[in-house]
Amino acid sequence: MKKWVQSDDGSYTAYSSEYDEHYHSTKDGALNESLKKHIEPAFALHADKDHLRLIDICFGLGFNTLLSLYYRDTYFPDTTLEIYSPELDGDLVASLSDFPYPEIFEPYRNIITDIATLGGYEDERTQITVEITDARAAMRELEGRWDVCYQDAFSPSANPMLWTREYFADIARLMGEEGIVTTYSTALATRLALHENGFNVYLNSGEGYRNATLASRRVLENYERVDMAHKIACNPHAQSLKDESAAL
Ligand SMILES: C[S@@+](CC[C@H](N)C(=O)[O-])C[C@H]1O[C@@H](n2cnc3c(N)ncnc32)[C@H](O)[C@@H]1O
Repeated sequence: MKKWVQSDDGSYTAYSSEYDEHYHSTKDGALNESLKKHIEPAFALHADKDHLRLIDICFGLGFNTLLSLYYRDTYFPDTTLEIYSPELDGDLVASLSDFPYPEIFEPYRNIITDIATLGGYEDERTQITVEITDARAAMRELEGRWDVCYQDAFSPSANPMLWTREYFADIARLMGEEGIVTTYSTALATRLALHENGFNVYLNSGEGYRNATLASRRVLENYERVDMAHKIACNPHAQSLKDESAAL
């Protein structure tokens, strides 16, 4: 069961009674959260690329995918985008033509309809695939090098299987040396799972949104690096989540 809920920036998100969580932070605002925690850092950190390959975990209402289109069209019109997004809830995706999206997504109505009815969209500058599948299995099978992973699953406590050390090993393989993981989670267990897979972990903080996390194997100049050795020393019993204990 899901109901639409207006968040504090005026944009609508949804509440899932199954997971007892909103799809976005209602305080940060759905659109604002997507922009600040995912889209802005992803594009800033790949500003030199003319083709971006994005993994959007998980599609949900599609804010990260749609805002990536808007951001590309507004600031990087020559960049081509390829987006792969797994999502378990096929009924939700099929219903999205009726969702009360923000005004800025109005130009993408036809794309939303194609995703809802065909599971994807393609033109000369854009390729989007929304696959109705388990993201954990999908990340095991996905191949190639990707530039960004929007890690936007329900929280580690609500959906642990998408936050484990083994899960992030697959994400690390897909991100290579240059890719960026963006996530709202600042949980130590999440940061440990990233760190254990060779990612540098960074704080994403700023005006108007709660702290978030960025991770990459490369050094990110303009972000404050999280001192994981210090965190581990201060929390010697802290552990990353593991597949085995994530009720697979
Ligand atoms: C926090 S919401 C995603 C928010 C989304 N980024 C947006 O902009 O609306 C989490 C989504 O994960 C989906 N989900 C939960 N478990 C999943 C799994 N194992 N594989 C794929 N999707 C899953 C839920 O159906 C839900 O749509």
